[in-house]
Amino acid sequence: MKVFITRVIHPAGVKLLEEAGLTVKQWTEKRKLTQEELIAECDDAEALLSAGQQLNKSFLESCKHLRVIALHSVGYDNVDVDTATIYNIPVGNTPGVLSEATADTAFLLMMAAARNAFYMNRTIIDGKWDFFEPTANLGKDLSGLTLGVFGLGKIGLEMAKRCAGAFGMKILYTNRSHNEDAERLLGAELVSFEELLKRSDVLSVHTALTPETEGKFNLAAFKQMKPGAIFVNTARGSIHNEEDLVSALEQKMIWGAGLDVTNPEPMQPDSPLLRMPNVAVLPHIGSATEGTRKAMAEMAARNIIAGLKGDDIPFPVNPELYGSPQKKTS
Ligand code: DGY
Repeated sequence: MKVFITRVIHPAGVKLLEEAGLTVKQWTEKRKLTQEELIAECDDAEALLSAGQQLNKSFLESCKHLRVIALHSVGYDNVDVDTATIYNIPVGNTPGVLSEATADTAFLLMMAAARNAFYMNRTIIDGKWDFFEPTANLGKDLSGLTLGVFGLGKIGLEMAKRCAGAFGMKILYTNRSHNEDAERLLGAELVSFEELLKRSDVLSVHTALTPETEGKFNLAAFKQMKPGAIFVNTARGSIHNEEDLVSALEQKMIWGAGLDVTNPEPMQPDSPLLRMPNVAVLPHIGSATEGTRKAMAEMAARNIIAGLKGDDIPFPVNPELYGSPQKKTS
């Protein structure tokens, strides 16, 4: 049975698949597949392990023979899950294992924005480190500030722990429901979106991209934030409106920003955000550590192996398929 993988993944994941007797084909070119190429590659495959590809309705209609799709990500906004469910294709993701690495990235971006760090590094490269000025290059102190978490799940909780532990920050959060761990461990306070905007000194986004969260951080939202606030997004670029973010920074509605996700991705090298001292941008590397990428590859492989055996996959995003008499079996 063939598994097609859309990128080169950690060898630990490939090993698990091969040990299970599966034939693995990885896409090794350093470019995204076109939809036509992806459909052609999946034509004789039973399973797809997908990273960095859009799996839309027309793809799924062309590949309804797939018996399982495993995503190499926790986010599943790039898959039309409803259509996959209609065709009885279990879709799996990689929750939990990347929470710490992603929170580390959010924390890094908060620090980098607060101290103009990426920009200051560039001044050395550009030969502009000349003399010491006591009143130049001043950043922000973070101790005792208030962190607002938009979407407090596993990753948001890790970010909150880091900010409370390192800087004694007060934690506010906006979520669909109470996060009892955050309230018990950190005294976190559940607040409305408006209150989160008004009271946060650092506002960090950790929610999924959905029709409700798309474009949520627009000019109207930035206007309500504190002029000293730092906006951090390590979730999905489309949750903020990037033009509005540029305007908000230019008009000093907020103080700075740290982004691991941009809109569009890849970010264009002429983006004004890359030239702002108080903005730190990374190319979507939130989960990019050796250990995390190994764990993600292994989880994705386990989803594939279970799906091809006809078992319930361990990390499903459409668990409603289970228990259904229509579930695909071999
Ligand atoms: C995730 O796992 O969702 C990461 O953002 C990679 O896309």
